[in-house]
Amino acid sequence: MRSFKYVILGGGVGAGYAAHEFVRRGLAPGDLCIISSEAVVAYERPALSKGYLNPENAARLPGFHTCVGLGLGRQDPGWYAERGIQYLTGVTVTDVDVAGRKLRIGGADEVTYGKLLVATGSRPVTLQEHGTPGWDLRGIFYLRNLADAERMMQGIKECKARDGRAVVVGAGFVGMEIAAVLRQNGLEVAMVFPGGMLMDRMLPPEVATFYEDFYQNKGIEICWGQKVSELHGRDGHIEAVETTEGQMLSASMVVAGIGARPNKELFTGQLDMAAGGITVNGKLLTSDPNVYAIGDVAAFQLTRYSGNLQRQEHVTNARLTAIHAVSAIMDPENTVDYDYVPYYYSRFFSLSWQFHGINKGKGVPFGSQKDEKFGLYWVHEGRVVAAFLEGGSDVEFKWVKAVARERPKAPCEEELEDMGLEFAAKV
Ligand code: FDA
Repeated sequence: MRSFKYVILGGGVGAGYAAHEFVRRGLAPGDLCIISSEAVVAYERPALSKGYLNPENAARLPGFHTCVGLGLGRQDPGWYAERGIQYLTGVTVTDVDVAGRKLRIGGADEVTYGKLLVATGSRPVTLQEHGTPGWDLRGIFYLRNLADAERMMQGIKECKARDGRAVVVGAGFVGMEIAAVLRQNGLEVAMVFPGGMLMDRMLPPEVATFYEDFYQNKGIEICWGQKVSELHGRDGHIEAVETTEGQMLSASMVVAGIGARPNKELFTGQLDMAAGGITVNGKLLTSDPNVYAIGDVAAFQLTRYSGNLQRQEHVTNARLTAIHAVSAIMDPENTVDYDYVPYYYSRFFSLSWQFHGINKGKGVPFGSQKDEKFGLYWVHEGRVVAAFLEGGSDVEFKWVKAVARERPKAPCEEELEDMGLEFAAKV
């Protein structure tokens, strides 16, 4: 049995940033243990779809260990060792006894804690869970961790050696990034998804159509309004994807990006749950006084928006909840409630966009799609409450972020459209 003042369960983005914050606030050697089922110490997960699979200048560890994402320096294994942090890699926690403050890590081995930070993140939803026939064929991939990315690299090579055709199932941000990078690797790519248009869950059709056209011009086949009904194989390897609309797409590689599920099961019946995750208050504290939850798994109230508890499966939320929870543990008197403004971003091909806020109300587009520099404001009850920008510079992205945070009074629609980024610059 090993005992620690603090234990972080999980070794992803939240864990890396939490460790950084513990150290910044004065961690004594031997006080912190991190337990991760991954073989490597924490890294910036978005790099898996934004750099790792690139055909040129591919991102590789140690280059993208946390906390390079916020410019706080790179924490390789030596960084943890030098600070007396016990980092258990390749170790899966199989049981948690919240009342007894104990974690089981296989066999009879146990770790006890004073305070626990749950940072278990999410896992991909699988085609098996959907009951899709053929889900167990070789050549079907998901992307959540480094081991998945390594398998995909191999899959790309094998696909090239077969028919060079890949199908991406799902058109969320990860699906779009993967489709782009497979194309950049020289594969013929088709995307299958139930929606009406790429990006149409966030953007109105007149803006979303830009991305649809862009992908088609890059040679990616868009099969919208359909799901995968069956995966067909030969000799145990994927050969074709059949859709609910009866289309048959040849493929020797399939990547499914059909959502993620938070890893919360270890706490079922022990902690309050909401929105598919673990309920936390404004200090990221769960229903147990010694357990905090951060990142994808934490269900919290967005303080400046009304509404139910919700989760944010986004890297910035993982980083900020981590920093906030450590502050709440080490300096509770000076820690206010967590105040998060939703933020999403993506990069694919030559494009790069950011979205800040909650998109309700009327969308007012601005800028020039032809020049790949355009955006959208959302006006709700006389205020600009959210903003999207494609092709912005660092400073311009900061301006639109400020719009979502400040929610300024909106001018009339025509004026807002004419002002475009000038409006954000003045906030
Ligand atoms: P995270 O998933 O990072 O880490 C969880 C850790 O817990 C893992 O190391 C896991 O192995 C470990 N674990 C789980 N159960 C365990 C157990 N029982 N025992 C031991 N260890 C256990 N977001 C964004 O805002 N912009 C973006 O562009 C992207 N891009 C992106 C690309 C790809 C490919 C993915 C998969 C995800 C993104 N994201 C993203 C999402 C973002 O990466 C995600 O929100 C954060 O990584 C969440 O951080 P967490 O620390 O909560 O979990």
